[in-house]
Amino acid sequence: MYSPKIIVVGGVNVDTTFEVRVLPAEGQSVSATGSYTSIGGKGLNQALAARRAGVPVAIIGATGDDDGGQMIRNFLAAEDINTEFLLQIDGASTGRAFIVLDQNARNLIVGQSGARILPEAPLIQDITNAWEGWRGVDFVAANGETTSSFVREIFDTARNKEILTAWNPSPMPTDPAPLLRRTDILVLNQTEASELLGVDRSPETLASELRAISPREVVLTLGEEGCMLVNDEIVHVPARAVQARDPTAAGDTFLGYFLSSRSRGCTFREAAEIASTAASLCVQEKGAAATIPRRESVLETLTAPL
Ligand code: RIB
Repeated sequence: MYSPKIIVVGGVNVDTTFEVRVLPAEGQSVSATGSYTSIGGKGLNQALAARRAGVPVAIIGATGDDDGGQMIRNFLAAEDINTEFLLQIDGASTGRAFIVLDQNARNLIVGQSGARILPEAPLIQDITNAWEGWRGVDFVAANGETTSSFVREIFDTARNKEILTAWNPSPMPTDPAPLLRRTDILVLNQTEASELLGVDRSPETLASELRAISPREVVLTLGEEGCMLVNDEIVHVPARAVQARDPTAAGDTFLGYFLSSRSRGCTFREAAEIASTAASLCVQEKGAAATIPRRESVLETLTAPL
């Protein structure tokens, strides 16, 4: 297995999507117009986006010993992602996500963790041992689809090695503060920012409040409105206007392309523009991992006029 430049910790899932005309309201029953199964999970999607951007990536996570787990392993092997630390938990089911997608490209996601809970002590030690032989790790990223205490340990390990940590609090843990303290780059959407700050405000207000509590860089993603970049200043980067069909995995695509672009030496803003372009391609297709674009398509779109 090769030496990764980006390590991603997080969920690997089998997704089941139900297509509906309009998202159900609380207490309402609706009929699906169609359904399909695909490979996803925030960890898998983020790792895949970074890999499809052309950077060596390792994923840390777990599957069960079921058919879903095998399907995921075959997929990751074909994408040439380092799976040395993708555990297989005997007797457990692979994580699942149930997605409801409406005709206006709005979705709801409910996840079931299954095998995603990671054992800490032995795994951290094994990773630390392997890490001694890895050269040039630039970022360790994690999302909310895994064990917070494990992420704390691996972020501490990374920071002791002066490696930057990136955190996507999706879903938001019950106590985000310990992870926030260990985060160098925070990437989150408007709903997550409101959850984190305990207020539901405009993107501009959220961005300035995030700046006050912030790690060194924050990216507040805003869907079709683009994103706000927060460090010494706050900058809005607009998104390309596209016909969105499914937002699933768009945030993951953003994160993977953002980190891979930083790893290649792009500035904060350049990386966000590339990541935003990649996400704009992702939302035009239905599904999760399979809709994450490859570098060639992203580069081609970047050179096309806005
Ligand atoms: O971010 C999208 C992902 O969230 C889906 O692939 C699904 O697995 C859920 O975890």
